[in-house]
Amino acid sequence: MRRLAWLTDVHLNFVTPGHVDTLCRAVRDEGADAVLLGGDIGEAPDVEAQLEGLDARLGLPIYFVLGNHDYYRGSIARVRAGVEALCARSPRLHWLPRSGVVELTPETALVGHDGWADGRFGDYERSDVLLNDYWLIEELSGLDKRDRLLRLNALGDEAAAHFRAVLPEALARSRRVIVLTHVPPFREACWHRGKISDDDWLPHFACRAVGEVLREAMAAHPECEMTVLCGHTHSPGEAQVLPNLRVLTGGAEYGRPEVQRLLTVP
Ligand SMILES: [Fe+2]
Ligand SMILES: [Fe+2]
Repeated sequence: MRRLAWLTDVHLNFVTPGHVDTLCRAVRDEGADAVLLGGDIGEAPDVEAQLEGLDARLGLPIYFVLGNHDYYRGSIARVRAGVEALCARSPRLHWLPRSGVVELTPETALVGHDGWADGRFGDYERSDVLLNDYWLIEELSGLDKRDRLLRLNALGDEAAAHFRAVLPEALARSRRVIVLTHVPPFREACWHRGKISDDDWLPHFACRAVGEVLREAMAAHPECEMTVLCGHTHSPGEAQVLPNLRVLTGGAEYGRPEVQRLLTVP
């Protein structure tokens, strides 16, 4: 049995060290023995320091993915390289895209990837939504709308390829699988203020490529159960995508990082 504290979209660059202390105290008060951290931890210049700060305060294994904000004012390639190096020297920090299948208990496996809103849900062509991502992340800035879509597609495909690679092993080994990702992988999990995001926002808020891989895997394994934990929209909700595939989307408010949920895993 494990007790996992799930956090997402903590955006620690917007809070004081005192707030981080309070958040970590809340994790410990829940009696958690590990942390699942779902991305948007900070921004490129501070995300490594934020992870080190959480590690030092918590002294627990932290399994995490990165969110779009973690690449702001930097580049995806450099942030990922820096975070990989940090994890190599910090035995309790685990960036899930490089962790393969994590055996949480004999019954439950954990896999994860950042994911990326891949422009494929909703109506990308008509949408005039422009996220800060498209200026503040090196790989996405300076692109016209068409080239940006191709880049978003490629980032979503990269995440989907990761899940395609790790899920067969996870589902062969464990009856239950937890998937940690930043971006909702299904339209019905893309909550925004109590409703599903509309066609203008969906292209920027959900990752269809990952959803297709997860749905296909669980349709082929009715004997297994999957729980997907995501964030990014800052609006909480639950979606039952298949009888054995449930998605929890975390809520968040800038400046008020909190524990989403304590999960007890058999
Ligand atoms: Fe966020
Ligand atoms: Fe995000």
